Amino acid sequence: MPEKPPRIFLSPPHMCGREREYIGHVFDQNWIAPVGPHLTKFEQAFAERIGVAHAAAVASGTAALHLALRYLNLQPGDEVLCSTFTFCASANPIVYEKAIPVFIDSDAETWNMDPQLVEEELEQAHQRGRLPRAIVAVDILGQSADIAALRRVADRFAVPIIEDAAEALGATYNGKPVGASSWTSAFSFNGNKIITTSGGGMLCSNDQKLIEHTRFLATQAKDPGPIYHHSHIGYNYRLSNVLAAVGIGQLEVLDERVAARRRVAQYYQDTICKLPGISFMPEASFGISNRWLSVICVDPVAFGASCEDIRLALEEENIESRRAWLPLHKQPVFADCRVVGGQVAESIFECSLCLPSGSALELSDLERIVACVQRCGK
Ligand SMILES: Cc1ncc(COP(=O)(O)O)c(C=O)c1O
Repeated sequence: MPEKPPRIFLSPPHMCGREREYIGHVFDQNWIAPVGPHLTKFEQAFAERIGVAHAAAVASGTAALHLALRYLNLQPGDEVLCSTFTFCASANPIVYEKAIPVFIDSDAETWNMDPQLVEEELEQAHQRGRLPRAIVAVDILGQSADIAALRRVADRFAVPIIEDAAEALGATYNGKPVGASSWTSAFSFNGNKIITTSGGGMLCSNDQKLIEHTRFLATQAKDPGPIYHHSHIGYNYRLSNVLAAVGIGQLEVLDERVAARRRVAQYYQDTICKLPGISFMPEASFGISNRWLSVICVDPVAFGASCEDIRLALEEENIESRRAWLPLHKQPVFADCRVVGGQVAESIFECSLCLPSGSALELSDLERIVACVQRCGK
């Protein structure tokens, strides 16, 4: 049997080298603990990078979203609006709090939550006499949602926006870093993200009380004082000091990682997207995407193969690609939830494929990927 060519992964971790040195400091100082000076340093550097006053490092992006929702003291049956075109972790913490997600469709220009639909839903909710308690607005695939447009509507009804920026670290919105323009923003350092701590997350905000409460809840909610006294149910959600050291090294190269991912996206745009029936995920005029994932849209008739055909052909060549998110309103676990619109997200799902997007991809890798896609066409 001929040997398979080396695997090309969708979005693998990309270390810069200094992470080992910083972990070395952690070991030298024996700060192998869930808190420590590296954690504080990572939080400070991160808040500075985003341009917010405060940041709390936690075990995952999901934990960050959960603690933001927890702060709002949701009651069973409360509704929370959430993008439908996203990963399940955007909505799962709503369910942890026994609240009910109401899914909102994307707009075709940005693939993010459509502000017009949010306005319609909030007006109707106002008439029904029960407003949603929050909006989880996702910056999907590295592109910011139109936060100002969402805020104009949300502020009218005093509904807070929790920005799920898990995929969009390093992107911009109206000239500012993504995550700086909403009440609070959650980031992920999962292994597949633009920078990683293997697993981890961050909650950012200018609201000091929110971030202090987040740190408190993330460390088992021990009340101040010498004894183990608890007046809240807490969580073991803090990021470890060891992983924070990795995060410090990764954050130093964030701009390089964004530039590299954007180069990968541009390469696909200049090659695959010149083929009939293939186009690239649009980039909104209000910001710069970090191009976390490069996503193509395939018209199977014009191209001669569907996105699933391409995925299978790439897999044959030992190249990982993934279909974009199946909208959450189509997920069995959310079958009972309401959706506002939904057809835009469904049509994006039907046509789109995420290609390998890692910041360490070599030209020879990209050539292999493009050649394989080309062979699928008519
Ligand atoms: C949009 C979105 N939200 C939330 C998360 C959850 O982040 P984590 O895996 O760090 O919990 C992810 C990714 O994993 C994501 O892609």
